[in-house]
Amino acid sequence: MPGCDGHGCLPFLILLFKTKPTTVFLKMDVNGFPYRTVWINDDDPAAIQIIDQTALPARFETLRLQSVAEVCAAIRDMQVRGAGCIGATAAYGMYLAAREADPKTLFADLKRAAQMLIATRPTAVNLAWAVQRQLQALQAGITPAAKINIARQTAQAIADEDVAFCQSIGQHGLAIIREIAARKPGQPVNILTHCNAGWLAFVDHGSATAPIYAAHEAGLPVHVWVDETRPRNQGASLTAWELARHGVPCHLIVDNAGGHLMQHGMVDLVLVGTDRTTATGDVANKIGTYLKALAAADNQVPFYAAVPSSSIDWQMSDGLAEIPIEERDPQEVLTVRGWLGNFSAEVCLAPEGVPASNYGFDVTPRRLVTGLITERGVCRAEREALLALFPEKRTERSQGSCVRVQ
Ligand code: MRU
Repeated sequence: MPGCDGHGCLPFLILLFKTKPTTVFLKMDVNGFPYRTVWINDDDPAAIQIIDQTALPARFETLRLQSVAEVCAAIRDMQVRGAGCIGATAAYGMYLAAREADPKTLFADLKRAAQMLIATRPTAVNLAWAVQRQLQALQAGITPAAKINIARQTAQAIADEDVAFCQSIGQHGLAIIREIAARKPGQPVNILTHCNAGWLAFVDHGSATAPIYAAHEAGLPVHVWVDETRPRNQGASLTAWELARHGVPCHLIVDNAGGHLMQHGMVDLVLVGTDRTTATGDVANKIGTYLKALAAADNQVPFYAAVPSSSIDWQMSDGLAEIPIEERDPQEVLTVRGWLGNFSAEVCLAPEGVPASNYGFDVTPRRLVTGLITERGVCRAEREALLALFPEKRTERSQGSCVRVQ
């Protein structure tokens, strides 16, 4: 029977799960099987495995990637997507890079691979953070075999941390939901979320969804308004899929509905993820998030971002001026992709020849953010409040301790 590290296996491996206990981190399951979004099978160390998010919600499929080029393509084409998941996948990509590297030009090859990975998507800072952490770690290890070993261990550590950060965000966010629930006994807490900051977007648990799952498990009545999130509909195809499988009550809504719902008291909390949050608390997230924050402020609805520290860019202080906003293929706007049974189909929405633009993200300025939910606690969206939770960042910044690859 093939080896499996318990982070994702084919259904016929159920016997293995019964005999080999899985790590305590595992949580999300698909048809009764615990999965992470990226892992290495013990019997196949030459490759990494991912969940192909482009096949959801119609099919649950995993993909085997065996080169840095394949990892780059999977990130660029959004087979893996979501800040934490991209970061962890890139970290595993560096493990493949260590395996591929020519011993004579080892560090130059690793740097080239790092550049290729970082160039795949510009906005989510987790990508560069994970790759740079790998490069830093890979300075140790004298032989090529030692470097491969270090790269695998570092990727595993990044993935484990991602899970732990999300779990912890879940507990801190649960306190916020609990407080709202106490104010409306017997009624559900209505939470609006945008895009997919669920377990698919991380290694497990998710960031914005972690408090929701925690509340659901604690027996608090929660209900989620899921923005469909045009143009790629991550809300419709991924968040709704996750929540429904987990038994969390939810309704899918069009992206423009949030303001109306807030005006009518039907949203208690807006809870989103982030792809990059500045050291000062400006929050970059999927396009459309800023409009939700404006509507939330106008209706006195609390607006929180779930922010693992891997998504904080400590070098940046002005989100609007500094965060690179990905522009994607206009085709994503001009068409819509859906499913006919098991088959995916793309249809046109607009007259032939009409130009389109496709900005992938926007920045919600800190003044519109009620708070940031990090793995170390909840804080105001401002530099000093973040530094109070992450005091080591005061010194790290002045020491410039990172290997940086542009
Ligand atoms: O373009 P994507 O799908 O990779 O977008 C990233 C996101 O999933 C969202 O912006 C999300 O809310 C951020 S948290 C992973």
